[in-house]
Amino acid sequence: MGSKKVAIVGSGLIGRSWAMLFAGAGYNVHLYDVTQELVENAIKDIEEQLQALATSGLLRGNLNASEQLKLITGTKTLKECVQGALYVQECVPENLELKKKVFAELDALVDDSAIIASSTSCTLPSLFSENMKHRQNVIVAHPVNPPFYVPLVELVPAPWTSPEVAIKARQIMEELGQKPVSLSREIPGFALNRIQYAILNECWYLAQEGILDVADIDSVMSHGLGPRYAFMGPLETAHLNAEGMENYCERYGETIFNVSKTLGPVTRFEGANLQKVNQQLVDQVPLENLQEKRAWRNNCLSSLAQLKQNIDKK
Ligand code: NAI
Repeated sequence: MGSKKVAIVGSGLIGRSWAMLFAGAGYNVHLYDVTQELVENAIKDIEEQLQALATSGLLRGNLNASEQLKLITGTKTLKECVQGALYVQECVPENLELKKKVFAELDALVDDSAIIASSTSCTLPSLFSENMKHRQNVIVAHPVNPPFYVPLVELVPAPWTSPEVAIKARQIMEELGQKPVSLSREIPGFALNRIQYAILNECWYLAQEGILDVADIDSVMSHGLGPRYAFMGPLETAHLNAEGMENYCERYGETIFNVSKTLGPVTRFEGANLQKVNQQLVDQVPLENLQEKRAWRNNCLSSLAQLKQNIDKK
């Protein structure tokens, strides 16, 4: 079994990604799902994905694709999956009752020192860990899809998560080659979705007011803000756009404040504006072409990841 055992609970889209990331770093990965068939399908898919990554030169770590595949073992029971694991990554569907049930089961099976991480994209960790014996070991490790090309992981502690667990989880994410950010406390939407929703809100408002159509709103991001945000965030961008942040605020602070007061109000995404935005999006990408467009996006993200790797090496 080896000392570096990790357990992945749930073998869907995200469970498979975690399994590949851990195998890339040489961990012994144990994968569990509610049926054997699901686990077998997942391992087949992982094999194909690892081979595709090897072909495109994006495979992580020092092991080749078949060596990485050998590190991933399907398990028949949750107990077999998690017993003796130093780290457990829960990847079951986003449903609070299910998360509570799975965390209660994990609580009874894990070693006292095991980190128990959830992939949840929006549930606060306090909501499913409060009554656990091992609650000090629970943390959210929220990846971004597809995690192989988009390396951010948000680490979100519950109020009772021990600081050592938060530090250790960050070290493990760095070891995988991911880019962790560590929140000091849980907050709705964590960080990524708070920022994403602020952007979505203003896009919604610009469409509603008819200031721009949908394609042009998206262009502001893909051809304007997006290219530089792929390499540095908005705060460092501001720092560079003047003689440092203080100078930026002296120059632009008043304008930012005055424009910000005119930003659209928080609203529900429904009604006539939803119909308008949806119609334009469907004209642009018909629903039957979504899969094709997703593949195109993943290709772009893979090229960007390669570019960023090359830049990092310099
Ligand atoms: P998915 O639906 O692709 O996979 C979930 C898997 O969990 C399925 O294979 C299902 O059979 C299995 N499962 C259900 N009950 C189980 C149980 N009791 N024990 C073990 N396995 C069980 O879902 P996906 O997309 O992989 O999402 C998993 C988690 O990751 C969710 O919390 C989601 O919010 C989060 N997440 C998803 C992202 C995405 O883009 N899909 C991005 C970031 C986080």
